[in-house]
Amino acid sequence: MRAKSSIKDLALAHMQALHAYVPGKQPRDRDWIKLNTNENPYPPSPAVAEALANLSGDQLRKYPSPISGELRKAVAESFTLPNENWAFVGNGSDEILNLLMRTFCDPERGGGYMVPSYSLYPVLLSIKNAKQIAVRYDDTFVLPIEKIADCGANIFFLTSPNAPTGVGIPTESIRNLAAAFDGVLVVDEAYGAFASENALSLVEEIPNLCVTRTLSKSHSLAGMRIGFLLGNPEMVQLLDKVRDSYNVNVASQAAGLAAISDPEYYNGLVDNIIRTREKFSKQWQFMGWKTYPSESNFLFIRPADSTGTIGPKVALSLFDFLREHKILVRYFGTDPLTDSFLRISVGSDSEMLTLSETIDQWLKSA
Ligand SMILES: Cc1ncc(COP(=O)(O)O)c(C=O)c1O
Repeated sequence: MRAKSSIKDLALAHMQALHAYVPGKQPRDRDWIKLNTNENPYPPSPAVAEALANLSGDQLRKYPSPISGELRKAVAESFTLPNENWAFVGNGSDEILNLLMRTFCDPERGGGYMVPSYSLYPVLLSIKNAKQIAVRYDDTFVLPIEKIADCGANIFFLTSPNAPTGVGIPTESIRNLAAAFDGVLVVDEAYGAFASENALSLVEEIPNLCVTRTLSKSHSLAGMRIGFLLGNPEMVQLLDKVRDSYNVNVASQAAGLAAISDPEYYNGLVDNIIRTREKFSKQWQFMGWKTYPSESNFLFIRPADSTGTIGPKVALSLFDFLREHKILVRYFGTDPLTDSFLRISVGSDSEMLTLSETIDQWLKSA
């Protein structure tokens, strides 16, 4: 028998070298306070559980609507777009980002993104072996419009509000960027529901601009994997050619439709989260901790220990202390703009109280 090559050797060279995306920890036991992946601390609308319970065996037996037809209609209506031709539904917005990379990026035509922002973009580009164009923020986190416009990307992914800082980008800056940039501009609004402004009004105005949204954060449905793209019908038609035939399962389509149909419930949740966010933002600023103004459902804070010292060691010390007390937050240690900070998702009142008390303990112990 001939000697066989190993699976690793058979894989494409760029796949062998790939550094996979590292998601936040998802512990299975329930006694953790999870403030590390920006999930919503509140349950989804009761209408979602009802829609899932009402799914019949017949619906499960058959393939789902390939285009998530009813949901597209509801999404277009909910975001006041002309009709369903302007909406695309994906298996989470991550799938949509992936489809956009597939459609617009290769080794010559690059995908651009801000650093720091969502760390999935470079991973998706690496999987495609596509050209990567990273544009850096400085610590003001003001959008460097000229640098982006001149970066040569075929498609640019702009996270607004940004992650992990939570800083929102003014719609006027996005409009100016779209005017100056010759490529596709994707505004990733995963946290758009918590922001004071958004780029939705630009979708009809600017053909090369599209917005992605998710039900994972504002609609408490991270487990169902439902994301949207709102964009020109030409873009939607392209993505329809590239996606899997049945990319969103029947349960997710039903849950998404029920969620979108209960805006009153979700407006209440979002208001609650914004209230809690503002309360803790003020509290940490009062303690002298640098806290970026957040337009999202998380806060990016730079802890100082009891002697007033700041820096990566201090941030890591608090991160470890919280983990020892079964509270998970997120630390981004690979960039000088983020390595002295922690990203903390806004939790329920009781979770935030426990967090606050644990931080007090750390201050006394450090
Ligand atoms: C900026 C950003 N975009 C997209 C996503 C992915 O969202 P989804 O759950 O819809 O795939 C996330 C998730 O954390 C995110 O932070």
